[in-house]
Amino acid sequence: MTAPVRIVAAALLVVPVALSGTAFAADPGGAAIAANGTEAGAPPCASCHGEHGEGQPEGPFPRLAGIDAGYLVQQLHDFASGKRASDIMGPVAKALSAGQMTAVASYYATSSAPKAAEPNPLDETAVAAGETLAQRGDWSRGLPACAQCHGPNGVGVGASFPKLAGQSMEYISAQLKAWQAKQRTNDPLGLMANVAARLSDKDVTAVAAYYASLPADETSASSTKGAR
Ligand code: HEC
Ligand code: HEC
Repeated sequence: MTAPVRIVAAALLVVPVALSGTAFAADPGGAAIAANGTEAGAPPCASCHGEHGEGQPEGPFPRLAGIDAGYLVQQLHDFASGKRASDIMGPVAKALSAGQMTAVASYYATSSAPKAAEPNPLDETAVAAGETLAQRGDWSRGLPACAQCHGPNGVGVGASFPKLAGQSMEYISAQLKAWQAKQRTNDPLGLMANVAARLSDKDVTAVAAYYASLPADETSASSTKGAR
């Protein structure tokens, strides 16, 4: 667990450099916010979320590229209000105006980047078990298929059901565990809390491995796997 600490420390070190070296535009666009941060003190998103929003799978930093703008904006509002608790993202989101949230979310939603490499090879058995759960669910346990809400191959459905394909194994399992522990509670109607409560530790590993195994830039249904 030293990697995330090192990355956060590196990100924090980047801030003063960016602040002293950057002339901020009066109303920076999404790409400028991602690369330079904001005058109000939001650090460059890229320092944690990767140069092209691909995320850092060896740490807790999710992929943002290609995820629906409406979903990203909602999460930023929830971080700012504290409805979604995060010691790291809370202060970042509070340093963004509503307009800047929309601009940076639109920038990432329309960005594409290949799936960032996982730090460890994914376990094929876990990927296969995860695929079965994700596509079919398990009715004997009242567990719906993830695909019913997140779309075929986790491509995402509108602003409510985020894309999971190509998200990192660590981030997906951390979010599922956060719902199980009632640390993440901002999901509409408790839909994810209900799903997560029915997952065993093995299931969490399996579905996280499955979604991390999918190519990130897939936009239509297909069973192609890659980008390991
Ligand atoms: C210091 C590191 C850091 C910086 C800088 C940072 N983030 Fe984050 N971000 C994180 C972490 C860690 C998480 C995961 C939080 C959690 O586990 O709930 C996250 C999560 C998010 C999410 C939620 C994604 C999802 O799929 O639900 C969004 C949206 C986001 N960040 C946007 C931004 C934007 C926009 C910026 C730049 C203005 C930014 N972040 C800067 C570390 C950072
Ligand atoms: C009944 C609909 C529904 C089902 C079924 C469902 N989800 Fe979700 N999921 C949601 C919603 C809604 C959100 C967005 C929550 C929010 O807005 O904070 C979400 C968010 C997530 C996230 C967070 C993504 C991010 O970027 O932070 C993960 C991970 C996730 N779901 C995994 C799963 C897995 C794995 C399954 C299957 C075991 C599953 N979901 C089944 C509705 C569902």
